[in-house]
Amino acid sequence: MLETSYNSPIVEPFFRDLGVDLYLKREDLLHPYISGNKFRKLKYNLEEARQQKKHTLLTFGGAYSNHIHATAYAGKKYGFKTIGIIRGDELGEDIEKTLAQNTTLAFAQKQGMQLHFVSRNDYKLKNSKDYLTRLENKFGNFYVLPEGGTNPLAVKGCQEILTQTDSEFDYICCAVGTGGTLSGIINSASPNQEVIGFPVLKENYLHEPIKKYTNHRKWKLNREYHLGGYAKINTELITFINRFFKQHSITLDPIYTGKLLMGVYKEISKGNFPKNSRILAVHTGGLQGIAGVNSRLQKKHQDIIKTSYEF
Ligand SMILES: Cc1ncc(COP(=O)(O)O)c(C=O)c1O
Repeated sequence: MLETSYNSPIVEPFFRDLGVDLYLKREDLLHPYISGNKFRKLKYNLEEARQQKKHTLLTFGGAYSNHIHATAYAGKKYGFKTIGIIRGDELGEDIEKTLAQNTTLAFAQKQGMQLHFVSRNDYKLKNSKDYLTRLENKFGNFYVLPEGGTNPLAVKGCQEILTQTDSEFDYICCAVGTGGTLSGIINSASPNQEVIGFPVLKENYLHEPIKKYTNHRKWKLNREYHLGGYAKINTELITFINRFFKQHSITLDPIYTGKLLMGVYKEISKGNFPKNSRILAVHTGGLQGIAGVNSRLQKKHQDIIKTSYEF
């Protein structure tokens, strides 16, 4: 597996007029299934699980979770049993129908992941000790990966996203969910660089987790591009993603990297990056999540996301 990605220049005439350069760090190309930040987050956790002599990984996620998809594949590849605690007990009522309609869960099960569907209320207990003990009584001993895969070892892995040559950039931009990926980037950014996170959720919860994991270098959050919340989309976003694919032959996902790039483009066009800025946006993968959004769009007879990604 590749451990370093390359930076693609993103050429647009209006960038030149405004005097900025944009590059995209292609973490999405690290691996077809353990792509982007998932590879970074899992790397040291799998090493730790092996050291602790654990044979099973247990983790949490929603029906289209990139983290569930990647953990299922990584577990199979590196010799761990995997258990996925999935939000939404209604999905477990007719499992065959669920798997026929959901490529993420079908893929995870094909890798051997044992899927366990729980109510939204039970799912909220995912970080409680008592709940984990209940799960241990049910499934036996396991190594737990939190929802979204973020923990100190995941942040350590994400510190490897930036390399020395990236210090030539003035701004590093990244989509933010739990804040683990951004924290790793903040920790490894050069003192001259500003790191800008683009949260994809509406809730304003991120400062505490990021402060917990970082040593407080130059960073900020731009909360203008979540489009109303997690997995919320609009026609402008889908049009942007399809235009970007047509122009640059690079697929963006609608949950994370599409919102990030649309935000970066708008910030550039508003003149919010000074002249001569060199900007690096991180493509954190997540392309498997397109299938879920496309099935929603198809049901509404709307344009779907066009991609060369094979689900
Ligand atoms: C493709 C993709 N990009 C970005 C993120 C955001 O990462 P984090 O949760 O570490 O903020 C995620 C979620 O893990 C993701 O799946």
